[in-house]
Amino acid sequence: MTEFTIAIIPGDGIGIEVMEEALKVLKVLEEHEQDFVLTMEEFPWNSDYYVANGRMMPENGLETLQAFDAILFGAIGDARVPDDVTVWELIMPIRKRFQQYVNFRPVKSLPGIKSPLASGDDIDFVIFRENAEGEYSDSGGRMFDSQASELAIQNTVMTRGGIERIAIAACDYAVKNGKKKLTSATKSNAVIHAMKLWDEHVKRVVAEGYPGLELESAYIDALVAYFVQRPQTFEVVVASNLFGDILSDLGSGIVGGLGLSPSANINPEKKYPSMFEPVHGSAPDIAGKGIANPIAQIWSAALLLEHLGREDLSIIIIKAIEKVLIEGEVKTADIGGSATTKQMGSAIAEKIKEQYVTGEMGSLMHETN
Ligand code: NAI
Ligand code: MG
Repeated sequence: MTEFTIAIIPGDGIGIEVMEEALKVLKVLEEHEQDFVLTMEEFPWNSDYYVANGRMMPENGLETLQAFDAILFGAIGDARVPDDVTVWELIMPIRKRFQQYVNFRPVKSLPGIKSPLASGDDIDFVIFRENAEGEYSDSGGRMFDSQASELAIQNTVMTRGGIERIAIAACDYAVKNGKKKLTSATKSNAVIHAMKLWDEHVKRVVAEGYPGLELESAYIDALVAYFVQRPQTFEVVVASNLFGDILSDLGSGIVGGLGLSPSANINPEKKYPSMFEPVHGSAPDIAGKGIANPIAQIWSAALLLEHLGREDLSIIIIKAIEKVLIEGEVKTADIGGSATTKQMGSAIAEKIKEQYVTGEMGSLMHETN
């Protein structure tokens, strides 16, 4: 019997809409799998909660979440609350307290989805973004408010231990998945303290533990151009918090957009729950219209199941997504169709049911690897 407890945080805007579809898919799996039980509890921690309570989550919010096996997160962001408040009072505390120092973001061409790049086929790499320190730090401050001499200092925090563990996670993944090359995003020619430490320890980790792995170190400004010019040459990319954040949206853009891109915030030691969420935000421009693409959220749920040791179920979900995209009859607006969020979620749920009826399992994506 596998039984998991999952905390559900839909958030704001389309986060709420796409989460419904992910839950629809998880329910179908639960109905069809014997000995597979999900105990899910939903937490309404979002901008409404902030307006009512003056905070994004209760004081004991993190203690509450810690009791769960994993967290499935939608997206947050709402015009009534400053973005730095929603991010720093909800997402950042979860990532940092639970030592979710790996942000894992696959970038993969999907069947039936055309890349905006002229030569954008067969893209298949992953980004390991450092997720607990680096440029996203609250170290610093402001002085001389509203005066001509007004200033702000924002400190980047890079530690040997922090660099080492993200590099190890990326290398371990590379070796486990038969990848030959690790690309490290840097800017040590200009950011001479933090990024030089980054370079030194990424290099050391590879040299000491992964001699078979080729290390390509690329300046971030050149690297963004390479992402567009030769995306097929990347296998595993390791990057600091800020660089990884930007690279992953670009990665998402070259394979068809934010509606398709999942991510995982992982605590590899499994001491704390990991959190799974789409790369996208709450998309206020389309929120409430019921037209958001739920694939990124549903795929994030697949990553969650894989992390909990049910890769078999993750594959069933991904295969269903692929089938819907290959058929091409149900497509949301972001990928050139007119289907609603619910129609897309239901189409994927139906494909999962079909797999149980026909007994045909195993991912097309995995087969073609
Ligand atoms: P966004 O990701 O919400 O939207 C960017 C663009 O992509 C928009 O045009 C949107 O309509 C489109 N898009 C995003 N997801 C889509 C989907 N599933 N289907 C179809 N189209 C989709 O980023 P933006 O506009 O920069 O931020 C909006 C709000 O979201 C802000 O408040 C921001 O702080 C927040 N945000 C939250 C994140 C999170 O919860 N982890 C991540 C990024 C942004
Ligand atoms: Mg981002």
